[in-house]
Amino acid sequence: MNAQVATMNPLSHSSSLFFVVSLFLSLSSVICDGLVIKDGLKRFRELQLPNNVVGPESLAFDCHGRGPYVGVADGRILKWKGARKGLTEFAFNSPKWEKKLCDGSTNYTIEAICGRPLGLKFDPKTCNLYIADAYYGILVVGQHGGVAKQLAISADDGVPFKFLNGLDVDSQTGAVYFSESSSKYQLRDAAKITAADNSGRLLRYDPGTKSMKPWHHAHGF
Ligand SMILES: *[C@@H]1O[C@H](CO)[C@@H](O)[C@H](O)[C@H]1NC(C)=O
Repeated sequence: MNAQVATMNPLSHSSSLFFVVSLFLSLSSVICDGLVIKDGLKRFRELQLPNNVVGPESLAFDCHGRGPYVGVADGRILKWKGARKGLTEFAFNSPKWEKKLCDGSTNYTIEAICGRPLGLKFDPKTCNLYIADAYYGILVVGQHGGVAKQLAISADDGVPFKFLNGLDVDSQTGAVYFSESSSKYQLRDAAKITAADNSGRLLRYDPGTKSMKPWHHAHGF
């Protein structure tokens, strides 16, 4: 089952995960508009992030229903391994990721080096995890994790990705759809993005043909 939860703002650094609840709920009982929760949140449980780790953003369950997996501000993708082990390291987007520099970091300069996974989704057929990273483009990693393989840092039209954000996989075709919040500003400059910036795009990656094409141009952030 997909956990359809409201996307959290990558700029807001919350130190715990509060979303897992919806797994056990009928989605109709959760109304995200204004966060009116009618019923059902009685069995909710909070999953604690490791010490110093902040900014959980996007979550996914793998093709065996394991997880959730979550991207955090220091560039890692963590996997929930149950109450005893908690959230453990699963994958990195940056080949430059190192504990000394990145672990628990919230510094935007460092973030651009360590990566910032914002969109996550497993392909239910191949069990590969696709990742949209704010700085490292579109990546994919197998079910055993590790350093993710970078698929592209620009679209086929040559325009470099500036600020990738959300991502989804078409479970029938395997096509990967992902959003770019702005083609002008990076996440670290997100404060400069105004309503007047309509440079965002929706793009589509076809794993068969390897095409990476703009699909739709946004009319706002
Ligand atoms: C962030 O990291 C950069 C590069 O190491 C450093 O120059 C800067 O002072 C740091 N900023 C903060 C707020 O710690």
